[in-house]
Amino acid sequence: MENDLAEIAGRYDTDKAVHTHYLRNYEQYFGNLRSLDIKLLELGIKAGGSLLLWRDFFSRGLIVGLDIEPVALADHTGRIRTYQGMQQDTVLLDRIACETAPDGFDIIIDDCAHIGVLARASFWHLFDNHLKRGGIYVIEDWGTGYWDEWVDGVSYSPRRRKLSPSLYRITRVLARLRQSRFGRMPLGRSILSLCKASVLKMQYHSHDYGMVGFVKELIDELGTADITHRQFGSAPVRKSKFAEMHLAQSHLFIVKA
Ligand SMILES: C[S@@+](CC[C@H](N)C(=O)[O-])C[C@H]1O[C@@H](n2cnc3c(N)ncnc32)[C@H](O)[C@@H]1O
Repeated sequence: MENDLAEIAGRYDTDKAVHTHYLRNYEQYFGNLRSLDIKLLELGIKAGGSLLLWRDFFSRGLIVGLDIEPVALADHTGRIRTYQGMQQDTVLLDRIACETAPDGFDIIIDDCAHIGVLARASFWHLFDNHLKRGGIYVIEDWGTGYWDEWVDGVSYSPRRRKLSPSLYRITRVLARLRQSRFGRMPLGRSILSLCKASVLKMQYHSHDYGMVGFVKELIDELGTADITHRQFGSAPVRKSKFAEMHLAQSHLFIVKA
């Protein structure tokens, strides 16, 4: 019988062992891939414990890791490859993919710097060029964007406001004007959109810092079909690159369409 992920994690020096909800999410998303000869890339591997974890979990998988620090691993199976370098170095990412997964990775996990701009650089490069269709991209620890002591995190201050009934009435008037002749003219449409946006902006508060800001950008990619909707959005029409996005506490899974 196969061991569960928590049991395997307990054998190795990996911080995944303490994040039990991460392990549960991984079981859910990776369970049916377990016996396949998948190719997995993890960005950020510290002592290499998570690579040993993935090697044992995916009995036929090729496990590739990248870290800014050198990592020496004893691996008797020959199914682990490690590289030294920066997650944002797209030339290096191309070389790693070319040498280990020329047809694309099945799984990519970012457990690296947890800095928004760096995670974004490696995400879009790897997602667009080196993740298979149906492949899964995982981002760990996106909650660092709420930590003031983190390099690009800012502490959260709730500023959620209620849209007062009078403001709500204004949005209704603006929506009616949008249907009028004025609203159908390009300049009228722009003026009304601007007014509507500035009124509605007062309703919610978005914390757009570090990894949290980056994750919110990814939500916009998920919304592409509505953003480019033939009738209500702006051209050119296109579908999202994401088939699915699952957000959990500090843990994000995206399935490539
Ligand atoms: C949280 S640890 C990785 C833990 C490991 N994945 C595990 O589950 O046991 C983050 C790692 O990212 C590495 N790192 C930080 N910034 C990096 C960057 N810009 N490029 C590559 N590696 C980086 C650090 O050296 C560190 O080993």
